[in-house]
Amino acid sequence: MTVLRIPKIPLLEDIDPRNAKVLLRIDINSPIDHKTGRIIDNIRLRAHVDTIRELVVERNCSVVLIAHQGRPGDKDFTDLSQHAEILSKYLGLDVEFVEDVMGPTAREKIRGLKPGEILLLDNVRFVSEELIEALPEKQAETYLVRRLAPLFNYYVNDAFGTAHRSQPSIVGFPLRLPSAAGRLMELEVKALSKAFSEAAQPRIFVLGGGKVYDTLRIIENIVKNKVADRILTTGLVAQLFLVAKAVNIGEVNKEFLEEKGLLSLVPRARRILLLGAPIETPIDFKTVDREGNVRNETVGNVNGLIMDIGDNTITMYSDLIREANVVVMRGPAGVMEDPRFRTGTEKLVKAALLSNAFTILGGGHLTAIIPWDEAKRKGNIHLSTGGGALLLFLAGEPLPALEALHISARKFLWKTTN
Ligand code: 3PG
Repeated sequence: MTVLRIPKIPLLEDIDPRNAKVLLRIDINSPIDHKTGRIIDNIRLRAHVDTIRELVVERNCSVVLIAHQGRPGDKDFTDLSQHAEILSKYLGLDVEFVEDVMGPTAREKIRGLKPGEILLLDNVRFVSEELIEALPEKQAETYLVRRLAPLFNYYVNDAFGTAHRSQPSIVGFPLRLPSAAGRLMELEVKALSKAFSEAAQPRIFVLGGGKVYDTLRIIENIVKNKVADRILTTGLVAQLFLVAKAVNIGEVNKEFLEEKGLLSLVPRARRILLLGAPIETPIDFKTVDREGNVRNETVGNVNGLIMDIGDNTITMYSDLIREANVVVMRGPAGVMEDPRFRTGTEKLVKAALLSNAFTILGGGHLTAIIPWDEAKRKGNIHLSTGGGALLLFLAGEPLPALEALHISARKFLWKTTN
């Protein structure tokens, strides 16, 4: 079993910032209700509270927060004024919002900031440079980095959710300032590294949801890097593997896969199986027929539209989960928007929580099943704030944010060969 190479990253202890001016990159990119324009899930905002409080309250630093929301052209591409309000509420501290990123107003405010004060700059993606991905050396030369870096003593990156982007606010600053990972970044990297350590076997991945292309790519890398003992498939991914095994999933489901353009992935799924990948597929499904009747149908005899994994699959997968030392779950097992088809996902999460396994849940559908505070208390469960970053990490690919922090530490902190 392979252990992945994760670069050694500097932590807050390494830079030990006190009474300093700190630029803190956070990821508060949140889902927004298109009708009201309001944020509908605060998990990413809450997740940064520990880092901000430590810097401001314990270390008496002045902190400038830099973050993005959405992408240009998308409906959720907004300014960050409401993010500042919500952060203030969770922190119990004032967060002043500045309607500027790197212009004279922002720079004046940053210069005047006193210890214990917090500013949130506006959406960093309002600056076109931020949308271009390039190597850290190039990003360190952008206007964004050259204008802001001289105003700070340190750069701290707490944005695990954006760790897969090689953008200036992620990889440019570490080359100009002594830098460290924030507490959330530290927590995510530690939790996810645990999933890849030698001691963490048997290691079971439960992969479902609608992002089939992404999930297939993760599976290919998981298999290549030999990081899983078993991969339990659910959702559309499971259907794809059943078709690849030449199992009949019913006409209506095959048509659905075809409509979604997913049947073209069957040869890839077949190749993965031929490599001897430890892929498990469901033995039954919850289906719905044209009249709306819900049935539990055995694989090979499925007629209705597949909506969730079936009762026997839940039992089989739960038994396997109980044997695991680490469980990584991503994506729901069924169509969770309909309460009749939540059972599979909820029972698998429950099986993981009742086991002795260290459990990592990624993606909004799963993390919504267990409250953030409860997960923190339990200790053996980690709710990841990463979307794309979590996928890449699980797929064994390097994360630019971590690489840049490592380079920074070698330049400013460690000076020796680490
Ligand atoms: C995310 O939600 O995955 C991160 O905030 C990164 O956003 P992006 O996919 O728009 O770069």
